[in-house]
Parts: sequence; C-alpha cells; structure tokens
Amino acid sequence: MPTISKKGLLMPQSPIRKLVPFAEQAVKNGKYIYYLNIGQPDIKTPEIALQAVKNSNIDVLAYSRSEGSEVYRQKISAYYKKHDINVNHDDIIVTTGGSEALLFAFGSIMDVDDEIIIPEPFYANYNGFSTASGVKVVPVISKIEDNFALPPIEEFEKLITSKTKAILICNPGNPTGYLYSKEEIKKLAAIVKKHDLFLIADEVYREFAYDGNTHYSIMQETGLDDYAIMIDSVSKRYSMCGARIGCLVSKNKVVIQTALKFAQARLSPPTLAQIASEAALETPQSYFDDVIEEYVERRNIVISELQKIDGVKVAKPKGAFYCIAELPVKNSDDFAQWLLEDFDVNGETVMVAPAGGFYSTPGVGLNQIRIAYVLKKESLVKAVNILKEALKVYKD
Ligand SMILES: Cc1ncc(COP(=O)(O)O)c(C=O)c1O
Repeated sequence: MPTISKKGLLMPQSPIRKLVPFAEQAVKNGKYIYYLNIGQPDIKTPEIALQAVKNSNIDVLAYSRSEGSEVYRQKISAYYKKHDINVNHDDIIVTTGGSEALLFAFGSIMDVDDEIIIPEPFYANYNGFSTASGVKVVPVISKIEDNFALPPIEEFEKLITSKTKAILICNPGNPTGYLYSKEEIKKLAAIVKKHDLFLIADEVYREFAYDGNTHYSIMQETGLDDYAIMIDSVSKRYSMCGARIGCLVSKNKVVIQTALKFAQARLSPPTLAQIASEAALETPQSYFDDVIEEYVERRNIVISELQKIDGVKVAKPKGAFYCIAELPVKNSDDFAQWLLEDFDVNGETVMVAPAGGFYSTPGVGLNQIRIAYVLKKESLVKAVNILKEALKVYKD
C-alpha cells in the first residue's frame, strides 16, 4: 500500500470528537447522553439570520469573492467599530469558520519548522493546525492553581528563538475561560514589537465576557498594525456553528494579500451562509444580554456543583463557555470512554473532552477534562451529578 505522509501520521485526533464512536454506540444501546464535550450551544440562532436565507431569492447559488462579499465585509467593519475596533472592509477576509482563518494565518506567516508560542492549555485544534502547517508549538504553561492567568512575561521571552514567528492567544480562552486584561495585552504587544513577531488573537468568544469585565482586543492596541492578526467567527456569537463563517482581520496589508492567495485557492467562503451572517449582524443587543445572563447562570451552577465533589479542582472562567476540571483520576481519556461504555445513572451518562489534547506538553492535563456548559441549567446539574456518582465507583 502507498504510504501515508509523516504529517498525516502526526496529525492529532481532536479530543473533542475522538470519543464520538463510543457515544454513538452508547446511544444505540439506549443511553441518554449529556454532551459537555463540544462547544455546540443549544441557544437559538437569531431568527433574522434564518429568515434571510429563507427569503433569499437565488437562481444560481454562485461562488462569492474569495475575500467574501464586499457588503458583508463593510457590515463586519461597522460591527467592529461598535466594539471600538477600527478596521476597514479591506482589512478583512471572510473564511470558512474561524478554523480556516487560523489555517490561513499560519500558512501566511510561518514556514515548516517555525515556532509559535501558545499559552497552554489551548484550543485543541491549534495542535492540529500547527501539525498541518509543519509548525512547532512552544507552550507557555498556565496553571489551574493560578486560575490560568498568563504566566509572567519573562516566561514568554525565555522561549523566543530565531525560529519563533508568532504568539497566539485565545481571548476569552477556550478551554480555560481566561479573559486577558488590557495590561496583559499591552505586555504582549511590547514583546511582539521588541522581537518582531506576529500576535495572533483568537477572539471568537469576544461577547462572552462576564462579571462586568470588558474584552480588550489586540486590534484596539495602538502601534500593533503590522503585528496583529485577529481571528473571528459567527459560530458562537450567533449560535451559528453550522454556517461555517469566520474571518481573518489584519491592518498588515502584506498579511492580507498573502492570506488572500490562500483564499483564492479555495475559491470562496460559503455564499448562503454569508447571507445569514450578514443578517445576523442586525441582531439586537437584547439577544446578547439574554444569552450572557444565561451563560453566567450556567457557569455558576457548573462551578458550584463541581466544587461540591471530593477531589475535584476547578478554575472559575471569566469568559467563553468552558472550564477545565481536575479529577481524582489518572487518565481522563480512559475515564471519559468508561463513562460512555460502562456507566450510567438511570440510563443517562455524560460525554466530556479529555484535556490532555488541550496541551502540547506530553503527559500534562491527563487528570483533567474540559466541560462545555452549553446545556440548560437542569441538564448541567444532572450531568455534574452523573460525574459525581461516576467518580465514586471509577477505578483507574
Ligand atoms: C477558540 C476557538 N477558535 C476557533 C474555533 C473554530 O470555530 P469555527 O471554525 O466554527 O469558527 C473554535 C471552535 O470551537 C474555538 O473554540
């Protein structure tokens, strides 16, 4: 048989999705599953976005421009202006989800063997995108004991080598829910300028900042035009994960011109979904107020229920809709699989994401899981109770 690429062999499985076959089997066996493994919210997509697709009068479902429809990009730039982010439509390339924006960013600024520094734990697919681009992830460790705060800036500087091309942050963070302060962004800005690196910020959870904290974007920071690349998406903002629309934003014209070549190679972002995403920009603030209130309540319930379980440690998220929980188990991969295969409470079980895949350092996070609090409060209480009962009987 012809051989598979080294890159293909190295490509990690997503910890969020790798247990799906076990979940499917559990469902076939009649179990009910609370899905806490994936950031797929149960929140309704704004009606205005769905109506726009239903009412669209299309004869030919054509390609759009590679950089996305101009009208849509103009409206995105107006949305950013409301968030104090001053970018024009030609600083934006519309992509097939934030995922493609990350791939375009990596492809545009890094070569094989280049290095990217990422605070760990991080969104698991950064490992996948790095492997696909032949790039090495150099982690900066943040710890559950410190609520996953950014390590001191000197820790970043120690890791910079001649191969370092960028620092990547996720703000607010998946999986930690960490929200970077303005001061932290300023410190990162100073490092990237000093060492001539790019600063990529994945801001797909911008709206989801809690407890009166406001999100500070790298695009608000002055003097970063040449260095800053922002990743964005409609997936979580409007609960439109299936639209597959995101964007890459930068004031650096060369980055945009380069990313556009990648965009041209894949022709166009989805046309129908751009219609939905453009309409979604009209979503009233009241929608977000309600959604954020709901997520704060969900967060509070999940955290307080987890804290009641013996031996469980959890950091309180300040944004997004995830948390990392440390469990009294040796290997959360085995535990998560066992939950699906061998455990239930009255026919119900829970699916979680083992957290090892959210680290690039081998062996770290093996006793942790990531929980996405994307279900109704009653379901979250039941799901955490199932975890509690499971931990009483589970043997490593
Ligand atoms: C931090 C982060 N970035 C990017 C993505 C990619 O999302 P999408 O491709 O749906 O825009 C996700 C999805 O969960 C995410 O959590």
